[in-house]
Amino acid sequence: MRPFILVNCAMSADGKISTKERRQVKISGKNDFLRVDRIKAESDAIMVGIGTVLADNPSLTVKSDELKQKRRARGADENPVRIVVDSAARIPPNAEILHKGRGKRIIAVSSRAPEAKVRELEFVADIIRTGDMQVDLAALMERLHAKGIRSVMVEGGGTLIGSLFAQDLVDEFCTFVGNMVIGGADAPTPADGAGFVAEDAFSRLSLVSAEPLDEGVLLRWKVARSP
Ligand SMILES: NC(=O)c1ccc[n+]([C@@H]2O[C@H](COP(=O)([O-])OP(=O)(O)OC[C@H]3O[C@@H](n4cnc5c(N)ncnc54)[C@H](OP(=O)(O)O)[C@@H]3O)[C@@H](O)[C@H]2O)c1
Repeated sequence: MRPFILVNCAMSADGKISTKERRQVKISGKNDFLRVDRIKAESDAIMVGIGTVLADNPSLTVKSDELKQKRRARGADENPVRIVVDSAARIPPNAEILHKGRGKRIIAVSSRAPEAKVRELEFVADIIRTGDMQVDLAALMERLHAKGIRSVMVEGGGTLIGSLFAQDLVDEFCTFVGNMVIGGADAPTPADGAGFVAEDAFSRLSLVSAEPLDEGVLLRWKVARSP
């Protein structure tokens, strides 16, 4: 058993999620920002790859006081469990995600994470160890389910999302498409990594909705699975 997995990201009109130097770009507008904050507040957990932590240093906290209050009223922490997928435990000890805002943190590591760094991280986060060279994402999702986590919102980046699609671990895929062209063959896209070659390996999607939002479009897809 695994949680429901929603991938959410913002990309430019030409399908890039940041610049080729991996510099964060403000792609979303105000309404998309509020929508993402709402989904975050409704999720049990929010997940990013270590590449995103190193590039953007996000805190991944819920921003609206009203939404935080609603979470507390239903007996939850004011922020969802924040999860970093980080095979070698490279996360800087002063990363925002480890210190800003209340709530639990999980660092998912593999067997190659140095023991000393893991022990240091245990003061601020729970550690889940799976996989040899890289975190075993399917096993991680099972462990999260066993901890009572039923919904995970994945915020990026492209490498982590690419692996989740490759392992058929995505249920819903939401992209806000913003009104800019970032360009560059090397700029990250929503699903990077090795990519698929055979057509039968592509993740097939069915469109749930396409609606104008801010100065762009919000696309919601469900992953289509054979019955
Ligand atoms: N526009 C948006 O919505 C948005 C959102 C988030 C991020 N971003 C952008 O995305 C970029 C970062 O993306 P990224 O692709 O470099 O990094 P990422 O996807 O955040 O993290 C990738 C890293 O996760 C680790 N990992 C561990 N197990 C894995 C597995 N099984 N599969 C895949 N990855 C695994 C790997 O590092 P180890 O091997 O060391 O563990 C891998 O290099 C930044 O430029 C950021 O600004 C944009």
